[in-house]
Amino acid sequence: MSTDILPTSPESDCVKTKLDLSENPEEHSKPSLDKGEAPEHLSKRQMKKLMRQKQWEDQRELRKQKRKEKRQRRKLERQSHQESNTDGHDRKRFRSDVVPSPLRLIVDCSFDNLMVSKDIKKLHKQIQRCYAENRRASHPVQYYLTSHGGQLKKIMDENDKGWVNWKDIHIKPEHYSELMKKEDLVYLTSDSPNVLKELDESKAYVIGGLVDHNHHKGITYKQASEHGIHHAQLPLGDFVKMNSRKVLAVNHVFEIVLEYLETRDWQEAFFSILPPRKGAVPANKVCERSSQAQKSARAKDEVESNSSAEESTETPPDPITQEGEGQERASST
Ligand SMILES: C[S@@+](CC[C@H](N)C(=O)[O-])C[C@H]1O[C@@H](n2cnc3c(N)ncnc32)[C@H](O)[C@@H]1O
Repeated sequence: MSTDILPTSPESDCVKTKLDLSENPEEHSKPSLDKGEAPEHLSKRQMKKLMRQKQWEDQRELRKQKRKEKRQRRKLERQSHQESNTDGHDRKRFRSDVVPSPLRLIVDCSFDNLMVSKDIKKLHKQIQRCYAENRRASHPVQYYLTSHGGQLKKIMDENDKGWVNWKDIHIKPEHYSELMKKEDLVYLTSDSPNVLKELDESKAYVIGGLVDHNHHKGITYKQASEHGIHHAQLPLGDFVKMNSRKVLAVNHVFEIVLEYLETRDWQEAFFSILPPRKGAVPANKVCERSSQAQKSARAKDEVESNSSAEESTETPPDPITQEGEGQERASST
């Protein structure tokens, strides 16, 4: 297979997430917030919210720095283009910053009948978000929505009529397997034992268009395996340690691909895109943690994976501003 994938490496024993402020697992349910203990009277839900806020605050400087670096990088790119361009057409020069990637990135909308209307609406927001980010990316991908129909199309027809005029996107009623060569396809799925090393821009990467709150665990991996389609997971475990499961929302996977195409740096891509509730810390900065604490973190993660569909409304905003109709947070899994 020409896609660079590696067999998955076992989870490191050396894990300590930002949220794990103590070596004592019992303290996971009562974390210290800032200077003192969290107030006793808080419910578990309020406590979790407080912890997320604290985490969001803690990472503020890091995010600010990343945004600054990104701005500077873009500015330098623009300047170097301007210097090399002698025709004097400024607007053209600015557009020439954009170098489209041949990589095809497909959101597979064939899971329409597995979602209730509320989750279809969330998927719609995520698709809008992908569209907006792709339009502003310096290396936009060939964005496909396949198996477009059913409830999703109905909701888009009702709430977002402008979708028929969207540019630089291929919206197709056909299944992706009818549109792409099988050997070009790589299904991105967190359950795959293969780990992506690089992105091969001649391939067509597929993202499952599903907001399922883990109710259909492993469905995309199962389907890809059954149909003999290559599959791979993002190399999250090689670069970041998270306090939650590695299943990301459609738009996060999409944006990570865009960011990687720009920076060619997975760590940078993960850090600029992952939402704070994932509690990601660089893999090379993690410290020793007792196996009991790890167990406790896993148990906590299980609870969170089954938690409410409204998780996205409780978290602070994404670092990247959203555009147009996609202004609501689009990050449910
Ligand atoms: C919310 S997840 C859906 C999870 C679903 N239960 C499944 O089996 O795929 C949305 C999609 O994002 C992609 N995805 C999420 N996390 C990923 C990861 N860590 N690596 C690769 N792809 C991922 C997958 O394509 C997945 O179908």
